[in-house]
Amino acid sequence: MNKENNENEMNGNKDYYEEGADSCGCGSGEEEDSCGCGSESEEEGSSCGCGGGEGHGHGSKNPFDEQTPISGVKNIIAVASGKGGVGKSTFSVNLAITLANQGKKVGLLDADLYGPSVPTMMGINKRPDLTSSNKIVPLEKFGIKLMSLGFLIPEDAPAIWRGPVVMQVITQFLKDVEWGEIDFLVVDLPPGTGDIQLTLVQTVPINFAVVVSTPQDISLIDAKKALAMFDKVNVPVFGIVENMSYFICPHCNKRSDIFKHGGAKAAAEKLGVNFLGEIPIVEDICELSDKGEPIMTKDIHPEVKSVFNKISDSLILRSEQKVGA
Ligand SMILES: Nc1ncnc2c1ncn2[C@@H]1O[C@H](COP(=O)(O)OP(=O)(O)OP(=O)(O)O)[C@@H](O)[C@H]1O
Ligand SMILES: [Mg+2]
Repeated sequence: MNKENNENEMNGNKDYYEEGADSCGCGSGEEEDSCGCGSESEEEGSSCGCGGGEGHGHGSKNPFDEQTPISGVKNIIAVASGKGGVGKSTFSVNLAITLANQGKKVGLLDADLYGPSVPTMMGINKRPDLTSSNKIVPLEKFGIKLMSLGFLIPEDAPAIWRGPVVMQVITQFLKDVEWGEIDFLVVDLPPGTGDIQLTLVQTVPINFAVVVSTPQDISLIDAKKALAMFDKVNVPVFGIVENMSYFICPHCNKRSDIFKHGGAKAAAEKLGVNFLGEIPIVEDICELSDKGEPIMTKDIHPEVKSVFNKISDSLILRSEQKVGA
């Protein structure tokens, strides 16, 4: 857990949240350890990483017993990575748009409380309304329902929160937002395997985990940790995608493998995980993201569009198989 972020418990949004959450189901919301369960231990075999499994001081309560689906939400897709800056938010936003383009009802939850990207990437930022029953009404853009901490705090204000508060906020984003009827809720996670990821997997059943990695070893090592986390908490891994996979120079058409190439595919094969595709480095992806006009809203770069379409097709197919099973 990031100690720096625990020095001060902000902030100006207390009206949205009540403190003292016990969202990991371990019986304590006040302690400062990473899962909020009051155990310093990180013994092997404990599903929340807190040493709180059987025989570790929490009785036999399994934090995953607390998982409940979100009413109306059919599928939840968690987009994760080990390393930061590999393109999770870019992927999440464009996947959400692809699914919506294919006629699905889609929500996008920005679970990165420390660095929310959805307001910028989706080009929308205003304070959401509350319903009469105090539920948060998600914003909407490109036909996608959106929730992000960025809608609630100023752009330059840091969320300096302790673990239990982080868990409370994530739980509220999942359960106290009026998501309505949704085929796919895409959850854009922060990097790593910390409080936010654990809260998500303990609070709601995840149908599909997608791990984003760049091709180089330094990213793949951490991507494997993210995969291992999902495996450990029994979340089905849908696959791994290689972002920034290669670069075609728009001037001379020459290809450069700036961050190497093919590492994610090789890792996927080795780990027996689905390889979902290669997204190239494209200047427009970055520029359009900053403008709040994700590339999948445009009719350009068919090589990028085909990767997202393929992933979206197979997610839809898999979800239909799940229903038919
Ligand atoms: N394929 C790509 N081609 C060009 N630029 C890209 C590509 N993928 C992502 N980017 C750019 O790289 C930067 C980082 O991407 P992004 O914010 O999606 O990463 P992230 O994994 O969500 O980061 P964080 O871990 O901080 O949440 C952004 O400026 C984004 O526009
Ligand atoms: Mg991000």
